[in-house]
Amino acid sequence: MQNKLNELKELFLSEIKNTDSQENLEILEKDFLWKTGKLKEILKGIKDLTPDEKKIIGPEANKLKVFIENEISEKSKKLEEEKFAKMEEDEQIDVTLQFPSKDKGHKHPISITSNLLEEIFISLGFTVEDGPQVEVEEFNFDKLNIPDNHPARDVWDTFWISDEINNEKESGTKNLLRTHTSPVQVRTMLKWELPIKIVVPGRVFRYEQEDARHTCNFYQLEWLVVGEKVTFGDLKGTLETVMKKLLWEKTELRFRPSIFPFTEPSAEIDVSCQICQWTGKVKWKKCSMCSATGWVELLGAWMVHPKVLEDCGIDSEKYSWFAFGMWIDRIAAQRFGVSSSRMFYQSKLKLNEQF
Ligand code: DAH
Repeated sequence: MQNKLNELKELFLSEIKNTDSQENLEILEKDFLWKTGKLKEILKGIKDLTPDEKKIIGPEANKLKVFIENEISEKSKKLEEEKFAKMEEDEQIDVTLQFPSKDKGHKHPISITSNLLEEIFISLGFTVEDGPQVEVEEFNFDKLNIPDNHPARDVWDTFWISDEINNEKESGTKNLLRTHTSPVQVRTMLKWELPIKIVVPGRVFRYEQEDARHTCNFYQLEWLVVGEKVTFGDLKGTLETVMKKLLWEKTELRFRPSIFPFTEPSAEIDVSCQICQWTGKVKWKKCSMCSATGWVELLGAWMVHPKVLEDCGIDSEKYSWFAFGMWIDRIAAQRFGVSSSRMFYQSKLKLNEQF
């Protein structure tokens, strides 16, 4: 009987070696261990043994049963592991895989520039504010010290909302597409406690003759600081830091006196033109971005007019205040070496995909 057990073990070992699936393993288990199985068949003969033989064969048979059970469970584990390893290999997802680039969208150069500006100003402790693109006359003009019939209104070639709607409205409440981001200065000063330290990036509209620097809609970034002991040095320092970061280390700024009804004194600030590298010429032709002057007007600025502050309920004797409004499109053109701002609005993927 011992021989039969030994033969059974050998047979089992040779069969389990070739078993390559859980299903076949189950068949093997059934074949060897179940009631109808080979081991049970052998054990049927145990009744014919002497008591002494029974004492030996009984534990031996049990040992073999445990051995077969363990082998089957080990093999089962091994098969399971192999199955998952294969699955991992076959169904692998490569998260770093590149999709064809034509299916991918990406940011417009103006958005890239606007986001960079926001990031820089947030790092300098500014809050990003927003305002409506369809504005009321009062905030776009009146509260900025540009009352009805003021000649300065002509400077901003305004898109008014249709006469049918506006004719019904009182002066001040008429609607227009905002001509600059400066009305958000007013909105913020009316709403907020001091100190105020904001930037307002956004889209503005003007009825313009289009050229390399002018388009009918474009993007500005407004900057406003109102608080105690704010100085012109803060404005100048901030601007120089930001421009050198966004353009190049050698960027020069030029401050020119100017006139805005809502600032007193007022300045316009130019940046050395990067398109022609300050030479006024691109491939022996006049640089259209800076009209061959080497300078591009980038922003209007300086101290908010005391009347604007008083109209917004701020004590102009106690506080100091500075503001500027910059042209994001022109900064984008300078940063990316695009020779005309108009190109940003022509929806040409060939241009946009370069940045
Ligand atoms: N809003 C002016 C424009 O669009 C630019 C400007 C000038 C903004 C002076 C300012 C400022 O904040 O202080 O032409």
